[in-house]
Amino acid sequence: MIGIFDSGSGGLTILRECTRRLPDQSFLYLGDHARAPYGDRDNKDIVNYTMEMVDGLFQHGCRLVILACNTAAAIAARTLQQDWLPAHYPDRRILGVIVPVVEALSGVRWRMPPLPVDQRGGKKTVGLFGTSKTIESQSYREEMQKHAPHCRMVEQACPGLVAAIEEGESAAALFAIIQSLAGRLLAQAPGGHIDSAVLGCTHFPLVEDLFRKALPGHVEILSQPALVADALADYIRRHPEFSTAEISPRAIRYLTTGDPAKLAHLESWLPGPGNPFEVFTPNRAG
Ligand code: DGL
Repeated sequence: MIGIFDSGSGGLTILRECTRRLPDQSFLYLGDHARAPYGDRDNKDIVNYTMEMVDGLFQHGCRLVILACNTAAAIAARTLQQDWLPAHYPDRRILGVIVPVVEALSGVRWRMPPLPVDQRGGKKTVGLFGTSKTIESQSYREEMQKHAPHCRMVEQACPGLVAAIEEGESAAALFAIIQSLAGRLLAQAPGGHIDSAVLGCTHFPLVEDLFRKALPGHVEILSQPALVADALADYIRRHPEFSTAEISPRAIRYLTTGDPAKLAHLESWLPGPGNPFEVFTPNRAG
């Protein structure tokens, strides 16, 4: 199975697109609901928790895991990919969710040089919404500077929004938070104008309609789930050894470190009636 990990429920937005885009692949979703949100935690905790979760998915037989959590990808992906994986699981792979977004904004594939100046078009302003940790990590900013130097980026940390989504707050309460965050982001942009917005937290597409309402109509909202699903399809095409198409019928399973009974409000994101979450207990990292 292909593992999809998120700190909580946000990764369901990624899972949903991946299952649509890759109807022959099997997936195992793991949400660390017991310790969500990650966005305001210490880097050390985020790295350790992410390692435990990925280890759990590997122990369940996954050979390829997507860190479907921008915070985990921003803080832990490099350490896990460069140090932990080669030492513990050299034949397995971990992919993040930031690269596909930067590729879409830059217009070029990863590891390709940025577009020549005459092919870049006018300077574009991109607004990034993320957790405090994702913004603080500067991961998007650094990658954008390298790969899309023609884009200007304005960033807005969104403390409290993930928790409000996880707690199933009302649409009115969530909209009040999002409207104020959107106002603060636009106030940082030259002339209050942005061309595109990145919902750089996998929870935010769960309330994309509220971001749409809070942002001016011309702003393009990039769909991170669709971009990640396309990137996964491309990765499997180039690395068929990670395909799970041999599992028949295709399986989709859901694990949580939390209480499945508390995830009932996610019904519209889950397949069919009934709560499919099973409890997962991590092996604590060192
Ligand atoms: N959904 C995650 C992200 O994409 C993390 C949210 C959190 O746990 O704070 O950043």
